[in-house]
Amino acid sequence: MDTKEKSILDSVIYSYSTSSSQTNEENRILKETVNKLKEELDRFKVAPLMVCEVRNVFGKEAIIRLPNGNQFYVNVSQECGKVRSGDVVLADQKNLTIIKKIPITRKFDIENFVIVEKPKVSWESVGGLDMQVREIQEVVELPLKKPELFEKVGITPPKGILLYGKPGTGKTLLAKAVASSTNSTFIQVVASELVQKFIGEGAKMVKEIFELARRKAPAIIFIDELDALAAKRIEIGTSGEREVNRTFMQLLAEIDGFKPLDNVKVIGATNRKDILDPAVIRPGRLDRLIHIPIPKSEARLEILKIHTGHMNLGKDIDLSSLSSMMEDLSGAEIKAVCTEAGYFAIRENRTKVINNDFLKAIDKVMKEEEAEGQDYMNMFG
Ligand SMILES: Nc1ncnc2c1ncn2[C@@H]1O[C@H](COP(=O)(O)OP(=O)(O)OP(=O)(O)O)[C@@H](O)[C@H]1O
Ligand SMILES: [Mg+2]
Repeated sequence: MDTKEKSILDSVIYSYSTSSSQTNEENRILKETVNKLKEELDRFKVAPLMVCEVRNVFGKEAIIRLPNGNQFYVNVSQECGKVRSGDVVLADQKNLTIIKKIPITRKFDIENFVIVEKPKVSWESVGGLDMQVREIQEVVELPLKKPELFEKVGITPPKGILLYGKPGTGKTLLAKAVASSTNSTFIQVVASELVQKFIGEGAKMVKEIFELARRKAPAIIFIDELDALAAKRIEIGTSGEREVNRTFMQLLAEIDGFKPLDNVKVIGATNRKDILDPAVIRPGRLDRLIHIPIPKSEARLEILKIHTGHMNLGKDIDLSSLSSMMEDLSGAEIKAVCTEAGYFAIRENRTKVINNDFLKAIDKVMKEEEAEGQDYMNMFG
């Protein structure tokens, strides 16, 4: 072999060896990918585990509570380690054996789920509800401001009140006003959300809401749409109904649990007092029922004055004759009239609102109200 031939041979061997090491490398990468995909495939094959809560532990067995509220007596697997009541665990779907503990603390932050605020609403911004305001001041404000007075006299004030009346009559407004005047924390809960959004958690939420109120006392717990939680039920059949009932029972237990002078007051609100379960308005619970009516003539004028207070009004405006045209409108609708009147002025490039704007606005809001009333009649009959 001459030197030329040798050098050709060398280069062939070299290129062969590099290509073989490339193939090896490719082979390795492919094997890795296959393994990864196999693992991924295995993950897809595993049945999901159920998240549940441990209620009681008896050695290697335990009672767990499933999200739907059912409870089971099950085994605890060896690998799981020690479980305690209150732990959140994963259980097999078929036999519910506890397989793994997960580090979720049971205490979730209730403040993320309810509205907590210190409202600034003065009594002056509530129009035409003098009697109702006085009653709320007596049963909510006075005990929060002067508990010693009640101790001296030897009576216990109500723990809560129920405001009932048509939509837009000022129930939420009143609750905020009393929170504001007593400088209380205002915790707003919408009962229908409590039962719909937090399925299986309703009772726990109620408990945490009252704990939060005690922590932030003086506090007012405002439960809007109370009828969603506290409606009369003839028979409790579906698991959804059982769940609502459990949440309701927890609410009653919490109301019964705190003392009348505990610096926490409950205000319920509803448009449907007729369907409320009497249990919630029994003595010692929300036993003061305050009707918030649709405003009559004088009340309408007062509300109108409140909502036109900051408006740039033309000289031709006669509020009392306007208010007499707004029969059957709620406070919210009177406010809507003011806003609409403002829009009519804006559309005509004016900054002063004139009588005609109000007339058009009243017409518009009245028509809307009529249409709504018709819908309501069609729905309920
Ligand atoms: N009596 C009133 N005085 C002054 N403003 C009122 C009055 N009633 C209602 N309003 C106005 O209407 C708005 C809506 O009222 P609010 O939310 O308090 O009604 P509500 O009774 O809670 O209605 P819903 O039953 O629909 O919850 C208030 O923010 C306020 O601006
Ligand atoms: Mg309201």
